[in-house]
Amino acid sequence: MNNLNLIENPLVKRDVTILRDKETNTASFRAALNRVSYAIAIEIAKSFELEQIEVTTPLENTIGYKIKKQIVLVPVLRAGLSMVDAFLKMIPDANVGHIGLQRDEVTLKPIDYYYKAPKKLDESITIVLDPMLATGGSAVASFNSLKQKGANHCMLACLIAAPEGIKKMNEEHPDVPIYTASLDRQLNDVGYILPGLGDAGDRTFGTL
Ligand code: URA
Repeated sequence: MNNLNLIENPLVKRDVTILRDKETNTASFRAALNRVSYAIAIEIAKSFELEQIEVTTPLENTIGYKIKKQIVLVPVLRAGLSMVDAFLKMIPDANVGHIGLQRDEVTLKPIDYYYKAPKKLDESITIVLDPMLATGGSAVASFNSLKQKGANHCMLACLIAAPEGIKKMNEEHPDVPIYTASLDRQLNDVGYILPGLGDAGDRTFGTL
């Protein structure tokens, strides 16, 4: 069973409301999405293990900390790109991989048409960025690819999650904690989250 982490923060609730509102323009949508992504990054970082190091202040030596494992961010193209900036502001030395998915005409399952991630995934914390956990198809396919390439410490960061996507992740990748700013009601019959916010990619990139 996935560890499900709902980010309970009044600022996040306010921003999710801005994201949902169909009257929100592209600039305000991007700004709110950035703020929510910061909050998710901070919440995720609570689980990072630290290593003690020594640091010299202008006055004396003391104990400091560094994050033990390398962090790898993997936005799922295209909407996942919208979360990268905020995560990189909080984790500036993270590596960034990319996954692009398309539906296989025969099996109807998502397969990756683009995959580029750093080699040492087995020594890293791999965080998939995908704003909408809808059917769970893309998230599951992303973790399939990443785990095949050695990822063994994975997390999923999304803005909005539907029960259907959470169930699918529970079935296929129960070891992956899910971080989300909202748990929504259900999918409609074409796979959009209700109440949701519409198409995250189109709203972020102004391609409506
Ligand atoms: N992808 C989106 O952008 N929105 C949804 O509601 C579902 C999937």
